[in-house]
Amino acid sequence: MKLLVTGGAGYVGSVCAAVLVEQGHEVVVVDDLSTGNADAVPAGAQFVQADMVAVASDLLGDGSFDGVLHFAAKSLVGESVEAPERYWNGNVIKTLQLLEAIRLAGVPRLVFSSTAATYGEPESVPITEDAPTKPTNAYGATKLAIDHAITSYATAHGLAATSLRYFNVAGAYAGLGERHATETHLIPLVLQVATGQRPEILVFGNDWPTPDGTCLRDYIHVRDLADAHLLALQTAQPGEHRIYNLGNGTGFSVREVIASCERVSGISIAARDVERRAGDPAVLIASSEKAITELGWKPQHTTIDEIVGDAWEFTRSRS
Ligand code: UFG
Repeated sequence: MKLLVTGGAGYVGSVCAAVLVEQGHEVVVVDDLSTGNADAVPAGAQFVQADMVAVASDLLGDGSFDGVLHFAAKSLVGESVEAPERYWNGNVIKTLQLLEAIRLAGVPRLVFSSTAATYGEPESVPITEDAPTKPTNAYGATKLAIDHAITSYATAHGLAATSLRYFNVAGAYAGLGERHATETHLIPLVLQVATGQRPEILVFGNDWPTPDGTCLRDYIHVRDLADAHLLALQTAQPGEHRIYNLGNGTGFSVREVIASCERVSGISIAARDVERRAGDPAVLIASSEKAITELGWKPQHTTIDEIVGDAWEFTRSRS
């Protein structure tokens, strides 16, 4: 297929673009490099450095594209609370413009990076796709708004659309991993302590209603996530917008993640308990049964040490 990948210089987008190229697809990456890295765009993909909205009509206009995978987004939960305007403009307004370019060009398929943050504080776990969507921050609210817009486009205009709601993405593939200028995610931060780039990891809260008092999260390997995107492209049906949660279905606590990082790196990691971080749910665990049944998705990296191991290899290679 000929595919446009927005945000293909970012963490998840670059891994997906690399896997698409490996599988023989023709890939065009568009990324403005506001948070991505040019050297993350896989060899074999065409790279257009631009704001996707500025170039989408031109790129898609000849009607030759079979699909769009839309990763480009602002994705810092904390920033979204402090400056929601950046998220409503950067995520919602821009995606509405991209959807128009898709519609006018008659592109048949769309895969969208949605998030567990669309659900907010869960009423029960594991979280299924029919759980209430009550995002607790602007990041989740904007992704949910986009999901609603995509549903309307699919119904009215026959788009074959899939939203993939990622839980906690981690790991690395083919030399591509997490390297954000502003890093907020647990695993890369803990591994930076192991390499000496940070003095310690702060543990946000030790009094959560969980077995060891720290939050539980469902970590999914970025390579497994890429597989789900390929399957979504293959299985999507015109006029339908399908939504799938993607996780491993198992929760690991912050302390368990730190212990895994110590095991994998062989380095003792300094950790200090501090106050809870505002807006963190105690437990986020996905039910991915729908993706397993309908997409035929099967995650290959299911232990925390495998996921952390690949993240460690990536971190060490760059430090
Ligand atoms: N944590 C720490 N110390 C840190 C960083 C994180 O204790 O320095 C804890 C957090 O409190 C949380 C867990 O580690 O309990 C994981 O935190 P991350 O920031 O790595 O990930 P989140 O679970 O907050 O975020 C993920 C996705 C977001 C998505 C969100 C939905 O990365 O994109 O889930 O709630 F929005």
